[in-house]
Amino acid sequence: MIKQEVLLKRVDEYLKDTLSKNFEVYRASAHLVFAGGKRLRPLMVARVYEALGGDAVDIIPAAASVELVHNFTLIHDDIMDNDDFRRGVPTVHKVFGEPVAILAGDLLFAMGYKVLDDVKPFKDDERKFHKSVTALSKYVIDLCEGQNMDIKPPAQFSEDFYYELIKKKTSSLFILSALYGVYAAGRFDLEEYAIKFGENFGIIFQLTDDLLGLVGDPSVTKKPVGSDLREGKSTLPIFLALKKADEELKNKILQVYGKKADEKEINEAVEMIRNLGIEEDVKKIIKGYLDNALSAIGHLGSGDANSELVKMVNSLVERQR
Ligand code: IPE
Ligand code: IPE
Ligand code: MG
Ligand code: MG
Repeated sequence: MIKQEVLLKRVDEYLKDTLSKNFEVYRASAHLVFAGGKRLRPLMVARVYEALGGDAVDIIPAAASVELVHNFTLIHDDIMDNDDFRRGVPTVHKVFGEPVAILAGDLLFAMGYKVLDDVKPFKDDERKFHKSVTALSKYVIDLCEGQNMDIKPPAQFSEDFYYELIKKKTSSLFILSALYGVYAAGRFDLEEYAIKFGENFGIIFQLTDDLLGLVGDPSVTKKPVGSDLREGKSTLPIFLALKKADEELKNKILQVYGKKADEKEINEAVEMIRNLGIEEDVKKIIKGYLDNALSAIGHLGSGDANSELVKMVNSLVERQR
């Protein structure tokens, strides 16, 4: 099994080669790609492939593919969500303007396909390549549907809507990552477990992300806190906060919720929400999804890389950024 830092270095070198052209749209793309990021999706591609007996070095471009697509969605997401910073740096549209940011996203999306031509196991097996390209299309389509649900939620919050939304907007790229690994290994029989793993991983990931977006520490998350409140997002943690709040706090939240309120008002509401202890509620909810994810991993190969997948899921629960 390749060391995590070695793998991620190789992925970054590959990304550098892909995005180094001296052209504004490349610089705008590189601005976000090399600002940091946890690289969870590339890691997942590699660990699934290794757990099934593959050598991670052979699928660096597949790991890069999902990171490129992820960065495309983040650049467009920050325009949609009106956010000013991510990964601790100003967002692409803040630095380069919206038109170039839209283009940078488009470029990264296309690159996400292009680099699949470089994946060694795909070169000598048309079925592996074809399944992967089809999955890339399918899960970006799902992600777009999820983002549409995110920006136009129904007036009344419902848990069903929330889970459908986060599966589409967030689980999609984790499912794609696990599928790349499974397809590269030629284990088409394991498709359903890759989907189950990615889906549950994504749910836990987004539930935590929504929690951190409400009560996290922005100096740690490196992205704004309270912006879901400002933008009136339909998140389960916001719903839980409203349910737990007394009348005074509830009014305070509703005064800013979806009202594009200023930072000071948002921060006041956030500070009061911090005392409600919704972290514990979210942790309880996560438990069931954790069990589902772990049971899926049980079918995805064996050895150290398989244990790394278990570690990845467990660390989601504790994540602070
Ligand atoms: C952020 O994803 C977007 C969501 C799906 C919530 P990550 O938290 O994986 O972002 P980076 O890549 O580490 O910046
Ligand atoms: C990001 O969702 C999901 C995608 C980009 C598809 P959010 O809007 O909830 O994530 P952050 O908090 O901006 O990273
Ligand atoms: Mg969003
Ligand atoms: Mg956002």
